[in-house]
Amino acid sequence: MENMMKFIVAKFVLVLLVSTTRAHTVFDVTAEGAKPEGDASQALMAAWGKACACTEPSKILIPKGLFLLSPVTLQGPCKCAVELEVQGTLKASSNNKAGKEGGWVTFQRIDQFTLTGEGIFDGQGEKAWGACGTNFCDKLPINIRFDFLNNSLVQGITSLNSKQFHINVLGCNNLTFQSVHVTAPAESLNTDGIHIGRSCGVNIIDTIIHTGDDCVSIGDGAKNVSVTNVECGPGHGIAIGSLGKFENEEPVLGITIKNCTLNNTDNGVRIKTWPASTDNTASSIHFEGINMNNVSNPILIDQVYCPWNRCNAKVPSRVKLSDISFKNIKGTSSTPLLMKLVCSSGIPCEAVEVADIDIKYTGVGPTQAQCTNVKPTISGVMSLPECTEAVAPTAAVAAGPAA
Ligand SMILES: *[C@@H]1O[C@H](CO)[C@@H](O)[C@H](O)[C@H]1NC(C)=O
Ligand SMILES: *[C@@H]1O[C@H](CO)[C@@H](O)[C@H](O)[C@H]1NC(C)=O
Ligand SMILES: *[C@@H]1O[C@H](CO)[C@@H](O)[C@H](O)[C@H]1NC(C)=O
Ligand SMILES: *[C@@H]1O[C@H](CO)[C@@H](O)[C@H](O)[C@H]1NC(C)=O
Ligand SMILES: *[C@@H]1O[C@H](CO)[C@@H](O)[C@H](O)[C@H]1NC(C)=O
Ligand SMILES: *[C@@H]1O[C@H](CO)[C@@H](O)[C@H](O)[C@H]1NC(C)=O
Repeated sequence: MENMMKFIVAKFVLVLLVSTTRAHTVFDVTAEGAKPEGDASQALMAAWGKACACTEPSKILIPKGLFLLSPVTLQGPCKCAVELEVQGTLKASSNNKAGKEGGWVTFQRIDQFTLTGEGIFDGQGEKAWGACGTNFCDKLPINIRFDFLNNSLVQGITSLNSKQFHINVLGCNNLTFQSVHVTAPAESLNTDGIHIGRSCGVNIIDTIIHTGDDCVSIGDGAKNVSVTNVECGPGHGIAIGSLGKFENEEPVLGITIKNCTLNNTDNGVRIKTWPASTDNTASSIHFEGINMNNVSNPILIDQVYCPWNRCNAKVPSRVKLSDISFKNIKGTSSTPLLMKLVCSSGIPCEAVEVADIDIKYTGVGPTQAQCTNVKPTISGVMSLPECTEAVAPTAAVAAGPAA
């Protein structure tokens, strides 16, 4: 009897705890006038206004169903934590208009923001990729932008067929992506999965990214970023960079890419910097426990990254790379050049470690590894041939015009 009472009291306390940590007030967009198949932009803005002004944690709900959405910016600061739960499908217009920040859906200047649900952000990019050609698609909207958020979480949602990058992170502190899906076909141009720039403490976990460009790309000013249990492919693999293209770029520091799988990607794990660049550094970058299935260019440092010859390739890169490791990388490569480390002739790479690499070439013939302006420490199991300064011309592999 006493135990029973204890159990009931404990359960009551638990229920209390759960309900106080949940959002108190729910603003359903359909109560704000959103109609299935109709444009939900104004209803979402109205719900956002109310939730953001709420003095206790609140939630906005986009229920199951299809809703059209014009470019919107949901802006803080808010009075208290806000959650947006998306269960339905949000559909962008097929015109190429972006909001003023360059996004379709932009979340800005919010602390303790949560985006959850099984919902889909459908960017309707199919026509944009074709129209874009080699125009670099700069003006096309990014599906979801997270600008200047702190202590926030993105969980469960899907970004589908973005016109440009799917997800862009800028100026955030402590932002986690968990169980997010990104989906677009291999031929979609410039559709990076998650791009992170100028942010500190970004975690991507248990996430699946199938797209036409980089799976995860990590730009200047990214610090303390971890990418764990992520599946990539198709796409261009996981990239640090490109770095050194613009003035006033900030250092990249403390990046861990762990337990990720790349299927049929155009590159595996790479670091890319432009020749004739501005000064910068990228350090403490660790790739560990990576599975590759039929990947081209599995391990790559490219400090002469210059797609479409839009640079002076004769002037060395001034981005200094140091404390870089590639460890426990397994699987298959569709190209014979298994590892290509081409560092800057101006500032050679420092403290590069390569250990336990077991990558097999899916074709026939000899395999190669190239190390230019770098002397990596090599240890453990190595399926790679000895690293040579330059590669025989017959085996030269184009790094590809990957953005
Ligand atoms: C986020 O944190 C930064 C640094 O602590 C702070 O300057 C900024 O005001 C915070 N932003 C919000 C929306 O709370
Ligand atoms: C990071 O943000 C999460 C909310 O997603 C919060 O629970 C956690 O306490 C924050 N961490 C720090 C160090 O502030
Ligand atoms: C790095 O990020 C993790 C997880 O977000 C956090 O726990 C840790 O305190 C951060 N470390 C630094 C040095 O910022
Ligand atoms: C590694 O990632 C896979 C999925 O990509 C997951 O099933 C597995 O549990 C992860 N391993 C660890 C040790 O986290
Ligand atoms: C890709 O990798 C995952 C591991 O995360 C694996 O389960 C899956 O079958 C692979 N898919 C393809 C198409 O190779
Ligand atoms: C392996 O990758 C190559 C080059 O990307 C591609 O042509 C080929 O179809 C892939 N093989 C399989 C079995 O997916």
